[in-house]
Amino acid sequence: MNFDVKIFGAILLLVIGLLFAGCENKQLQEVKKHTMDGDYYNEMHRPQFHFTPEANWMNDPNGMFYYEGKYHLFYQYYPDSTVWGPMHWGHSQTEDLVHWEHLPIGLYPDSIGCIFSGGAVVDTENTSKLGSTGQPPIIATFTHHDFVGEKAKTNDFQKQSIAYSLDGGYEWIKYKENPVIPNTEKIKDFRDPKVVWHEASKKWILVLAAYDRVKFYGSPNLLDWEFLSDFAIQGDQRLWECPDLFPMTIEGTNETKWVLIVSIQKQAPNGGTASSYFIGDFNGTEFQAEKKKQKWLDWGTDNYAFVTWNNVPKDDGRILGIGWMSNWQYAQIVPTEKWRSAMTLPRELKLLNVNADYHLFSTPVEELQLLRSDSTVFEQMSISEEKELKGSFDPVQAEFDLRFNVEKTTAKTFGIQFENERGEYFNIQFNKEEGKMYVNRMHSSNNKFSDEFYDAIHSAPISLDNESLDVHLFMDVSSCELFINEGAICFTSIFFPSKRFTKVSLIQENGSVDLSEARIYSLQGAWNK
Ligand code: FRU
Repeated sequence: MNFDVKIFGAILLLVIGLLFAGCENKQLQEVKKHTMDGDYYNEMHRPQFHFTPEANWMNDPNGMFYYEGKYHLFYQYYPDSTVWGPMHWGHSQTEDLVHWEHLPIGLYPDSIGCIFSGGAVVDTENTSKLGSTGQPPIIATFTHHDFVGEKAKTNDFQKQSIAYSLDGGYEWIKYKENPVIPNTEKIKDFRDPKVVWHEASKKWILVLAAYDRVKFYGSPNLLDWEFLSDFAIQGDQRLWECPDLFPMTIEGTNETKWVLIVSIQKQAPNGGTASSYFIGDFNGTEFQAEKKKQKWLDWGTDNYAFVTWNNVPKDDGRILGIGWMSNWQYAQIVPTEKWRSAMTLPRELKLLNVNADYHLFSTPVEELQLLRSDSTVFEQMSISEEKELKGSFDPVQAEFDLRFNVEKTTAKTFGIQFENERGEYFNIQFNKEEGKMYVNRMHSSNNKFSDEFYDAIHSAPISLDNESLDVHLFMDVSSCELFINEGAICFTSIFFPSKRFTKVSLIQENGSVDLSEARIYSLQGAWNK
């Protein structure tokens, strides 16, 4: 941008700023001014089409709801540092799940405590009587965490509270009788309340995490809560967090099952933290899991606290969610300077019955196609040595749609590799014989910031018995989200090379790999308009 344009831009901003000074708060003006800055969001490692806060620390997605054309996303936020601290709810919104607008902080700590994770619902029928049916209140449920109580080891320092908004989610009023669920049993880990409407019993159901289990509560009005039941897995002593509960129709049927998502604080399949789920029935009081089987929503290391949006319009009908794209093992020390952490891409969930067992399939929302620009097509090819894929795309700001013919592939392993001129690389490999996929970020940087981040090749079981294998992959500077066979398996990983990856190749070992076709889309950034 030349100097004159900059001055013109600055004057324009000043005029716009003065015009709106009366009706918008100062923080929002700051955000807007910053958003119009040409160098916005170009730092090293900064994702270009994932949600990231402008600056400072972010963890879990919170309080997600859709209302009047906007999907709102709140998030655990510490505005004073790039490491975790007293939590606020940061706020942003999007009309298309692709382009985000930063908004002023939604919830601040108060005399009861700081604001931990939770959800939000649109109280359309005004059951809470906090609004009116013409102006339905939005009710946020969250945990008040009291650091003083924590230090004094009172054990009841986490309580559930609510806040409501009468302007569609921008200004929030804390309910004067908080907490609405006190911690009478003195459970040290007692948090992350999320609410869903249960049509059959005409009441709201709140699910929260209580150490190694979840607890369900019911309410007619979102204010008065009655304990209903616990759900746990015998012998599982891991810490559960950020639960979510919602009904889903099984694809191709009229049958409904309930999905219970819980995030697990340790010993996830590839180490550290991850999001898991159970499928079952919920009768308004209790949740019964099919075979008590815990499954993984994402096999990678970097999708935690995944939860869904409330109030997505019925004529849309999708179940949409998002996760925090990091892992507590190393989230606070990843080498980003101005901000820490991104969200995953927004995803659509589908419930399928596969061989008499229920599975959640996740796919990136179709709105992401808005970002596609040039596409490069590769026709069928059989390769028995590394083959660079060249075209009009930047390998780490691109979407890959690859179909392999597994039957015709003789290689022991095959896959795709991203690398830079410094010899740093990240790769994904499939092993037909083992029925496994491997994601290797061990050599993704020569400047290793943590041992745990680089200590192992990650893997997931994957069926490679079919004729073909579909690999849908999004690369965004420092992250890779993989969706295999229409989202049957997804795998999210972050990495931080010391220099951007510029080369992408098909790789194989001991034999040839047969690629049926590939289409690679160059993706525009979602921030610099
Ligand atoms: C999960 C979590 C939640 C808690 C929040 C605090 O990542 O530990 O259980 O509410 O983060 O920031």
